[in-house]
Amino acid sequence: MSTWGPGLFSSDSAQDFLEELAELDPAARPAELSKIFRELLDDPGSLMRTVFPETVVAAAALVAASLPGGQDLLDDEAFAAALPEPARHLAADALRALTVATSPDGHWATSWVSPADRDEALAEVAGVAAILGSGAGWWRDAVVYQIYPRSFADADGDGVGDLAGITERLGYVAGLGAGAIWLTPFQRSPQADHGYDVSDYTDVDPLFGELADFDALVARAHELGLKVVIDIVPNHCSDQHPLFQAALAAGPGSPERARFHFADAPNNWPSVFGGPAWTQVPDGQWYLHLYAPEQPDWNWRDPRTAPFFDDVLRFWFDRGVDGLRIDVAYGLFKAPGLPDLAPDQIPEPMRLRGNTLASDREEVHEVYRRWRVIADSYDPPRTLIGEVNLPPDRASRFVRPGELDQVFAFAFVAAPWDADVWCEVGADLLTHARTTSPVTWVVENHDVVRRPTRYGSAARARAALLTILGLPGAAYLYQGQELGLPEVDVSPEARQDPAWIRSGVSRDGCRVPLPWTADPSGTYGFSPVGAAPPWLPVPDHWGPLSVEAQESDPESTLALTRAALRLRHLLPAADTVDWSVTEDRLLLARRTSGFTLAVAMGDTAVPLPAGEVVLASGPLPGDGTLPPDTAAWLRHA
Ligand code: GLC
Repeated sequence: MSTWGPGLFSSDSAQDFLEELAELDPAARPAELSKIFRELLDDPGSLMRTVFPETVVAAAALVAASLPGGQDLLDDEAFAAALPEPARHLAADALRALTVATSPDGHWATSWVSPADRDEALAEVAGVAAILGSGAGWWRDAVVYQIYPRSFADADGDGVGDLAGITERLGYVAGLGAGAIWLTPFQRSPQADHGYDVSDYTDVDPLFGELADFDALVARAHELGLKVVIDIVPNHCSDQHPLFQAALAAGPGSPERARFHFADAPNNWPSVFGGPAWTQVPDGQWYLHLYAPEQPDWNWRDPRTAPFFDDVLRFWFDRGVDGLRIDVAYGLFKAPGLPDLAPDQIPEPMRLRGNTLASDREEVHEVYRRWRVIADSYDPPRTLIGEVNLPPDRASRFVRPGELDQVFAFAFVAAPWDADVWCEVGADLLTHARTTSPVTWVVENHDVVRRPTRYGSAARARAALLTILGLPGAAYLYQGQELGLPEVDVSPEARQDPAWIRSGVSRDGCRVPLPWTADPSGTYGFSPVGAAPPWLPVPDHWGPLSVEAQESDPESTLALTRAALRLRHLLPAADTVDWSVTEDRLLLARRTSGFTLAVAMGDTAVPLPAGEVVLASGPLPGDGTLPPDTAAWLRHA
């Protein structure tokens, strides 16, 4: 037993530890472990406690609890009370990972499921221990508020939002109860795809301000206790980027062109935004752009690309950025030789994931292992969040230990208002979630139709909001979602999205400037009075949806969001969920911690399940029923 000392949860020694466990008489294991861990807890001077304060004790308790009968240990109130937070909440997660490494009858065994599964499960336990020890896992249960800088707040009066406008309004975001903001691109860019075409990765576009404005924004956010996540765009840059301009000038066969994908003839890949993914240059060669022609793809097989981005990461981390949201994180690498897609495999517009030759390639994981090392070299470690628009089983490979921290749960974004679909998607996401990376719930962002319009009613959007905020893990809110803003039908001549011109899909309707005041002056408070017209027209009668109007209405979506974020802190971050649907279309997500989310997704009122209603997304009649299109959080003993 003396080998169960410091270093227990580094992978190698964890393996030894578990092998020692396997050699013990199964019947004796729980008692033996209980004894050891009780002694550890009772002895504050013990080596394990001193070297790994709380961490190892907690993680070891998780191992103990995963043994037959070991659950009793965690059920023991005195023992559980001695476990520090968030260890107790992480226990459920870790148990799930450890289950992978047990034999089918639930006993620890030397005949593991497979060496790869075992190693992965052990690494996940190590990951949990590391999180417990470092306090760096803020993102695990954070509510992150997504800011689209063009449309949040315009301080300088040019009709386009800017960094100074964001800084002025950060108090509002902190007041909601969010823990972090995510800023979509504000770096220097000709704005062909509103910032997702970057011409200088380490500067602020003059449209949004300058680096000093960014520093002020970060300082203010940190003062308010908000973490700052920014977008990084590694799949492509702008055609105005100096390195792409140099490639154009240098001509065919040059090392400058090797940084991108130039070819003498295009293949048959479509652009995500519609039309071919290739554009011809005057000397006859073609270059690849999975998105707009103004967004040439980097060649990640060129040895200069990875170091270039290492420097970009460090630049922003050094400036105090807490995390990165990685654009098209499942792209980057293309199949060697850029072969044609089979004719029956050409994806629809707006679906990169259908192009299996340009997404989810194995080599991309090497990039994130490299970025992990950089992110972890900071104190506290920086967070890496991937836009990985893949099915949950594939997406979860990006959050393996040593890679990204989080990926968005896009399966939920895509789900229609349908109880069976939500049940299936929710359960599937949880099945594939990893111990170290709880699900990141999201239903809105700057690329998709606003929920009141998508689901067909404001009530449904409120119910969806309450649902994602009541599930264990992190949640992302897109600006304006807390106001229940609907999609705006932007007139064709006012549309600006490059995808609209090429594919007929316009994302402008979810990007309309936020209404801050009930009075229409200054575009409902978005701009100063007398400013230039907003970059996208704001509908008339937007006033009742404004922050100001909703502030004074206790029934507003804003009030609901604030209440949900306050109560959410009472819910454990890590928890398992049992999903089901009743015959009358009531979706139930029962959390093992004693909370149930109930969403009435059918056409009729349904009996509320047992428990005390702590929050509901709409008025309840008080007769024990939940009206259609309403969600409730229930607490039960
Ligand atoms: C991501 C962004 C989207 C952008 C695209 C190309 O999907 O969310 O807005 O157009 O990448 O960078």
